[in-house]
Amino acid sequence: MQTSRRNFMRIAGGTAILLAANSCTSGPNYPDPRLPWHSAETETDPMRFALAHALLAPNPHNRQPWMVDLLSPTEAILYCDPTKDLPATDPFDRQITIGLGCFLELFTMAAANQGYRAELDLFPEGSDQVTLDNRPIAKLQLHLDDTIQSDPLFAQVFARRTNRGVFTEQKPTLEDLNQIVESNNNIRTGYAISEPEVAALRALAVEAARIEFETPHTYMESVHLMRIGNQEIAANPDGLSLEGPAMGLLNKIGIVTRETLADPTSSAFKQGLQQYQKAANSSAAFVWIITPDNSREQQIAAGRAYIRQNLAATELGLSMHPLSQALQEYPEMAEMLTQVHGLTGSTGQRLQMFARLGYAKSKQPAPRYPLSAKIITHGKT
Ligand SMILES: Cc1cc2nc3c(=O)[nH]c(=O)nc-3n(C[C@H](O)[C@H](O)[C@H](O)COP(=O)(O)O)c2cc1C
Repeated sequence: MQTSRRNFMRIAGGTAILLAANSCTSGPNYPDPRLPWHSAETETDPMRFALAHALLAPNPHNRQPWMVDLLSPTEAILYCDPTKDLPATDPFDRQITIGLGCFLELFTMAAANQGYRAELDLFPEGSDQVTLDNRPIAKLQLHLDDTIQSDPLFAQVFARRTNRGVFTEQKPTLEDLNQIVESNNNIRTGYAISEPEVAALRALAVEAARIEFETPHTYMESVHLMRIGNQEIAANPDGLSLEGPAMGLLNKIGIVTRETLADPTSSAFKQGLQQYQKAANSSAAFVWIITPDNSREQQIAAGRAYIRQNLAATELGLSMHPLSQALQEYPEMAEMLTQVHGLTGSTGQRLQMFARLGYAKSKQPAPRYPLSAKIITHGKT
C-alpha cells in the first residue's frame, strides 16, 4: 500500500507539527466510517462545526487531504497533507487543490449557517505551481456577523453524493441545467445536453477511462487506494470503496483482490473498466467548469464552484459524477486533454471540472475520517 504506518511530521512556519492520527491499513479502526455524516451537526464550537461539515466535501479519490491546526474557536490554519497526493493521475496537485476548494466552500457555508462570516486568507505564505508544499493553504477566521444569511444550498450537504452508478435515459431540463451552472456566477461554466454533443463527450470519457485503466502507473495508483470490503474500509475510511454484501466474500475467495484487480487479464479488471465505461455511456448531460488560468487560486475557485453545482444538482434530485480522466496531465492522456478542451470550448483556458449529470438510484455516503483524525497539534522536533 502507498499509505504506510507512520506518524507524519512536518515543519511549517518554523514549527514542528505532529499529525494526531495517521492513515494506515492496519491502523486505527473506524467501526462506523460514515459517522462524520451524522456527527457534524453535534459540534458546538463554531470552528469545529464549520470544519466537521467541510470534511464532507468531494475530493479526488476520497484522499481527504485536509489537515487543520486549530488555534482557537474562531481561528485555524488549513494545510494539505502531502502524503495524500496522487502523483500519477494528479502530478501537479491540481485536483487535490480543487478538493480543498470544495472544503473551503462548505466551511464558509457551515460558518454562515451559525451566523459567522468566514474570512479565508488563501496561500498566506505563497504557493508552488508544481506541487503543494508545506505552506498553509489558507488561514481561516470566523467573525460573528448579524447580516450573514444561511445559504439555501447548505440544506443539501448531507444528501450530496458522487454517484458512479448507471444513469437513466431521462434528461435534465434546460431550466435545471441553468440553475446548476448559475449556482456560482463568478466562474465560467458550460454544459452539453444536445444528443450530438453528449455523444461526443461520452465517447471521449469512455476512451479516457480506457487509457487510465490501461496505463499501468495510473491504474495502479487507484488499485493501491481501493478498500475492499467492510474491514478495509473501517481501517481506512478513504480511497475507493468496493463494498456491498458480496464484496467481502469475493475478496475472501480470491476473486476480487488487489492482485486480481491489478491483472489486466482478470475478470475483476475487465468488469471494473466496463462498469466505469457503462456509467460514462449513460451520461444524460455534462457540466463543466473553466478558469482563465491554472493558478492555485483559480483551482480553489473551481472547487468552490464545483461543490455548489453538486449541491444544486442534489436539490433538483439530479446525480453528478466527475469524470476527470481526460483532464489529467500525463503523456498518455495528452491527446484527450486537448480534445476535451476543444469539445467544451475551453481551448486556451483551463478546464478544471468535467462531470456527468442525470438521474440515478441514490447511493450511501462515502466514508470519511472524523475531524479528530485531521487535527494537527504543535509539537517539538
Ligand atoms: C477534483 C475532483 C476530481 C474527481 N474526479 C473523479 C473521477 O474522475 N471519477 C470519480 O469516480 N470520482 C471523481 N471525483 C469524486 C470523488 O471520488 C468523490 O468526491 C470522493 O470519492 C468522495 O465521495 P463523495 O463525493 O460521494 O463524498 C472527483 C472529485 C473531485 C473534487
